[in-house]
Amino acid sequence: MIITISHQKGGVGKSTLAYNIAVELSKKHNVEVIDLDVQQTVSAYNQIRQEMGQKPLPVHVFTTPEELEHYFDALAEDTIVIIDSGGFDSSLNRFAILVSDFLITPVSSEFTEILGLHKYESILKELSEQTGMTITTNVILNKTNPNQKKFTELSDFIQSSKHFNLMGSMLRRRVDFANSVAYGFSVRELDKKSESSKELKEFVREIKEKVGLDAKKKN
Ligand SMILES: Nc1ncnc2c1ncn2[C@@H]1O[C@H](COP(=O)(O)OP(=O)(O)OP(=O)(O)O)[C@@H](O)[C@H]1O
Ligand SMILES: [Mg+2]
Repeated sequence: MIITISHQKGGVGKSTLAYNIAVELSKKHNVEVIDLDVQQTVSAYNQIRQEMGQKPLPVHVFTTPEELEHYFDALAEDTIVIIDSGGFDSSLNRFAILVSDFLITPVSSEFTEILGLHKYESILKELSEQTGMTITTNVILNKTNPNQKKFTELSDFIQSSKHFNLMGSMLRRRVDFANSVAYGFSVRELDKKSESSKELKEFVREIKEKVGLDAKKKN
């Protein structure tokens, strides 16, 4: 199972969500993380995790599609791979989109996010034309203002594209996401009762439901 957090726009929360999803899923599944970003954010988070005495995640860094392909050739079937892709368009990030079973795209709620999504949609459109399949990503509203209730323009735009599915869950802007990393934790490990934790739990539940994961628990 390959789950990729993908968006060519920077700073939307890809690495943050990749890390939190990986920690959460690794409680019951064999999880490996692939870091495709030149900034190696998720590797840095994992390094802090190790330094703070938490069990680190298995994180691999690849810089070419060939390396990634080679890794998949030898992958155990029950492994869940979480790919954190870079916030730019490249042959490596496109390859990750193509090999994935499930794509997740975080966006924040500002209207300007639509511009970034337009660009990402054109990438998915091109890849769909090349492969003859409709490639669809699951869009999660992330870093939304905790008081904002309506996201009409953004959600209308997302729902109007055959390349986007709007996820039912939403992650509000919470300081826990940055604070937890400083302690080598995910938001759930920092405080199970926090709002960020509840939202993350629901987000991961939705992912599991959509990919049909619960049947494949670790022995
Ligand atoms: N729900 C959230 N609430 C508050 N802050 C968040 C949330 N999600 C992400 N952030 C913060 O937003 C910033 C950017 O997040 P992150 O590095 O995960 O984005 P990215 O998409 O991986 O960026 P890049 O494209 O540069 O790799 C970080 O400081 C992170 O802590
Ligand atoms: Mg990143």
